[in-house]
Formats: sequence, structure tokens, C-alpha cells
Amino acid sequence: MDDLTGKTAVITGAASGMGRSFANRFAGAGMNIVLSDIEAPRLDEAVAEVSAHGTGVIGHVTDVADGGAVDELADRAFGEFGGVHLLCNNAGVGGMKGGPELVNTANWEWVLGVNLWGVIHGHRAFLPRMIEQGEGHIVNTASMAGHMPGHSAYTASKWAVVGITQGLYNQMHRTGTGIGVSCLCPGWVRTDIATSERNGPEAAAPPALYEPTADQEAAWQFVVDALEGGLDPDAVADMVHDAVVDDRFWIFTHPEFVVALQDKHESIMENRNPNPMGLLG
Ligand SMILES: NC(=O)c1ccc[n+]([C@@H]2O[C@H](COP(=O)([O-])OP(=O)(O)OC[C@H]3O[C@@H](n4cnc5c(N)ncnc54)[C@H](O)[C@@H]3O)[C@@H](O)[C@H]2O)c1
Repeated sequence: MDDLTGKTAVITGAASGMGRSFANRFAGAGMNIVLSDIEAPRLDEAVAEVSAHGTGVIGHVTDVADGGAVDELADRAFGEFGGVHLLCNNAGVGGMKGGPELVNTANWEWVLGVNLWGVIHGHRAFLPRMIEQGEGHIVNTASMAGHMPGHSAYTASKWAVVGITQGLYNQMHRTGTGIGVSCLCPGWVRTDIATSERNGPEAAAPPALYEPTADQEAAWQFVVDALEGGLDPDAVADMVHDAVVDDRFWIFTHPEFVVALQDKHESIMENRNPNPMGLLG
């Protein structure tokens, strides 16, 4: 989709972090923007900020884990602007810190509900009308965690998003729908993802007696520091913009992490067991 002017983008998780940067980037490229998020006050702030670009901008509170709410978002966007040309399925949560033994069922359901079902609902609610339009692009926000092994709901959700996004790409291209597809796989990006429990249900919180071990605390601090020192989300928005315009599938924000995937692919090619240290060794 090389000409974005006057077209419409819907972005989930647009009140903060990368989603907010996408909204500003695509409004700056002349698109009307529907910002959607579960956090109403921050969404209002983001709508005011993005409106400064002078295109049509609206906000719509949506819990992407709720299929009916995503249908309403699609109806509002198509109704208000007459079409949707870009859908960024971006809303996501990090889940609970700690090892697999500490993560409760409610936490798995919450993370899979937002990160995976949010994308599934987005496809179901928007794709038929986008295909009918004969033009459009979908960007799903996965993660490097969709390529690196880890026993967590986050890894499971992002691994699944990589799989269904590539499947969608195959299907859209084989059948000549005019719908482009991109899979965004960020490394560390400076956002508020470390505090995503702010949007989680109480039942998904750690049990009352939860005491993280020193190792778990250290691992969590590593993540917090890496996020604080991470890439500016506006830089990711530039990459996403360019991938949409150039119709590119993979968007890897950190080339050094792509290199780190080499051992995994070589172990498959050579039929040997993978290195259990993963990225650590
Ligand atoms: N920050 C990173 O380093 C990083 C790395 C890889 C992938 N990601 C992914 O990037 C995406 C954006 O996250 P971010 O890093 O900008 O974090 P963020 O917390 O700054 O933004 C995420 C947004 O999603 C919203 N959200 C949470 N639950 C929601 C729900 N149920 N329905 C609708 N909106 C909801 C939040 O309110 C927030 O505004 C996520 O999918 C995340 O998993 C982030």
C-alpha cells in the first residue's frame, strides 16, 4: 500500500508505547486513525496528541480479548470512515514475573486472551470487509519471544501469533486478495510493558504468599533494565510504516537477535539437539 493519504488505520493498544507511536506515525503520513485501548484516560490523552496531525482521529475503548467488543470496534471504524486500510493488532500484556511454577491459570488465560485472542478477533472482525474492499494491510505485533523458547504464557502467545500471521500471509497472497501482512518481532523497546499487570484481572495476580527467588528477582530486573535502555518506540513506528509501504512481511527491530536465532535453525538443519542455554550461551 504505497499511498496512505486519506486512508484509515485502526490500532489496538494505542494509548501507550508502540501503538501510540504507530498512531502518530500513520497520522503524520496523512491517515485517519482509530485509536483503541482498554485504558480510557490514557486513550483520551493519546487521541488529543494524535489529533494535532490534522487528520480524522477517534478513540474507542476496547478489550481485545472480548470478541464482541472487537466487532464493535470494527463497526465503528468502518461506519465512521467508510473503510479500514491498515489494522495494527498491537495490544499486548507481559504477564506475571516468575517461573512457570508460579504462573496461575488465570494469568495464562489473561495473557493468551489479550495477546493471541486479540489478534484472532481482529482477523475475524476486520478481514472480510478489508478483503471486500480489495486493498489493505495487517500488522500483527508478535515479539522475539515468538522465536525464542521460554515456558510462559507470553512465549506461547507470541509463538502462536508468529504462526498465524505467516499463515495469514500465505493465504492472502495465494488467493490474490490485495491484503498485505506483516509480522512485527520487536526486541527490547522502551515502553510501559513491564507494568502491564495494571490492566490484568485480580485473579491473574501472584498468589498472596508469592515470594520471588533471588534468581527470579534478578531476571526481572534484567528485563526492566533492558526495556528502559531499549529502542525508542518512534523508531519502531518508522520501521512499521516502511514495511507497510514496501509490503514486507518480517519486521525485526534488532538484527543482533536475528543472528542469535542461527543456532536454532542450524540445529534443525543438522538434526541435533538445541543448546538449552538459548540466548544465554
Ligand atoms: N516493549 C517491548 O520491548 C516489546 C517487545 C516485544 C513485543 N512487544 C509487544 O508490543 C506490543 C505493544 O506493547 P508495548 O511494549 O508498547 O507496551 P505498553 O504497555 O506501553 O502498550 C500496550 C498497550 O496495550 C493496552 N492493552 C493492554 N491490555 C489490553 C486489552 N485487553 N485490550 C486493549 N488494549 C490493551 C495497554 O493499555 C497499553 O496501552 C505488545 O503486543 C507487546 O507484547 C513489546
